[in-house]
Amino acid sequence: MKKIIIAIDGHSSCGKSTMAKDLARKIGYTYIDSGAMYRVITLYCIENNLFSGNELNLDVLRKEIGNIRITFRKNDATGHSDAFLNDRNVEAQIRSMAVAEKVSFTAAVDFVREALVGQQQAMGREKGIVMDGRDIGTVVFPGAELKIFVTASPEIRAQRRLDELIAKGEKANFDDVLRNIEKRDYIDSTRKDGPLRKADDALLLDNSTMTVDEQNQWLNQRFREKLKN
Ligand code: DC
Repeated sequence: MKKIIIAIDGHSSCGKSTMAKDLARKIGYTYIDSGAMYRVITLYCIENNLFSGNELNLDVLRKEIGNIRITFRKNDATGHSDAFLNDRNVEAQIRSMAVAEKVSFTAAVDFVREALVGQQQAMGREKGIVMDGRDIGTVVFPGAELKIFVTASPEIRAQRRLDELIAKGEKANFDDVLRNIEKRDYIDSTRKDGPLRKADDALLLDNSTMTVDEQNQWLNQRFREKLKN
């Protein structure tokens, strides 16, 4: 059966990765979380003191970006892929609020985007991939056969994110999480390079009132329809 590229973009914490992972597992495709790649770069910047407040030391990052190696490896215990920074498993650290608060600044840097977009395109060369992010259908794979743009209200996304953080034992409150989501939406949508926007040929999904099962089924149906055409 012919393999295609599936691009899933949308706002932070709207459930993109949940549905992307579910579909990839069911159809035997590779799932790539492009946001994790921006988060790994951000963790590197935090650990190496490249941030002063929200200001990034771009001169140092430009010199070091070639030494930041991002890989994904299957975690047999969870069945999912974990992100590695230069061979160190950083899956837990990249999901922290500390990284979430800084990642939009790293993701707005032109040479960071250029480096990561190149790596993402290389990962899709053989097709058979589900990738989620912000610019996958517009910049990374403008020719993707199936494009989805997912959204939900900021309050619903904040509650979902808060539930995830609490389940992981992180301290967080609703107002801080909501503020972080709204700030990231703003920075992601207004940046110059690869801003978050729906590709003209993407299907829109507002999953505010959908269960996880319902959205997984919705995506599965879109995939089956695409294969028939
Ligand atoms: O999907 P996420 O919340 O893990 O993404 C983390 C950040 O990375 C988010 O603020 C936007 C940015 N990002 C991006 O700019 N381009 C992508 N393709 C994926 C994520």
